[in-house]
Amino acid sequence: MDTKALYNLSYGVFILGAKAGNRINACVTNTCMQVANDPVRIAISVLNRNHTCQMIKDSGSFVLSVLDKSVSFETIKRFGFQSGRDVDKFKDFEYSLDANGNPYLKKESCAVISAKVVSSQDLGTHMLFVAEVTDAEILSSRAPVTYADYQNEIKPKPAAQKPAQSEKKIIGWRCKICGYELMQAELPADYVCPLCGHPAEDFEPIYEA
Ligand SMILES: Cc1cc2nc3c(=O)[nH]c(=O)nc-3n(C[C@H](O)[C@H](O)[C@H](O)COP(=O)(O)O)c2cc1C
Repeated sequence: MDTKALYNLSYGVFILGAKAGNRINACVTNTCMQVANDPVRIAISVLNRNHTCQMIKDSGSFVLSVLDKSVSFETIKRFGFQSGRDVDKFKDFEYSLDANGNPYLKKESCAVISAKVVSSQDLGTHMLFVAEVTDAEILSSRAPVTYADYQNEIKPKPAAQKPAQSEKKIIGWRCKICGYELMQAELPADYVCPLCGHPAEDFEPIYEA
């Protein structure tokens, strides 16, 4: 099986916001689709290890900012490359709250969708949430950004200049899908990216300067 065939599936890119107790948090996701009408239901898939996943399990609701083509890599990095367990991602960042108290972005977003979880299924790496849409609003007329746009236009390209590899020592490995860096010389064959769940074959070496 060529799992790269799955990369031809199309996705959007979202900021998935949640609240639990008095803490708010959000992470980047690329997995959301409408799965039913009347009532309108959507499905999202969230890495079980993500702090946001636990918050949604606890609160039973979430909000999606549908990112548009104006989104910057800085915003993706802020919400997708670090965990709310370690940092307050909303510190010094402009946001709004929906009716459930979940945080969303007005800038860089073309729509906001609030939802309440109606069922969930543990898929191992990910939790699949099916949720009823409780509110939705258009925020801008800009087009939504796609996951392909993120890969091809927003994510910085790795340095074009390749070092003389035989002479350079490998000091780490970078996930080509989400940019996560593992700073150790050896990459285990069964390693899976802790951020986006992609396997070892999607990592490229980082050489010493
Ligand atoms: C472009 C991109 C797409 C991502 N897609 C998903 C996704 O669909 N589901 C998911 O759980 N995490 C996804 N992630 C990873 C999370 O955003 C990342 O693990 C984040 O640091 C989790 O933060 P948290 O621990 O505060 O929830 C994606 C990251 C990027 C950069």
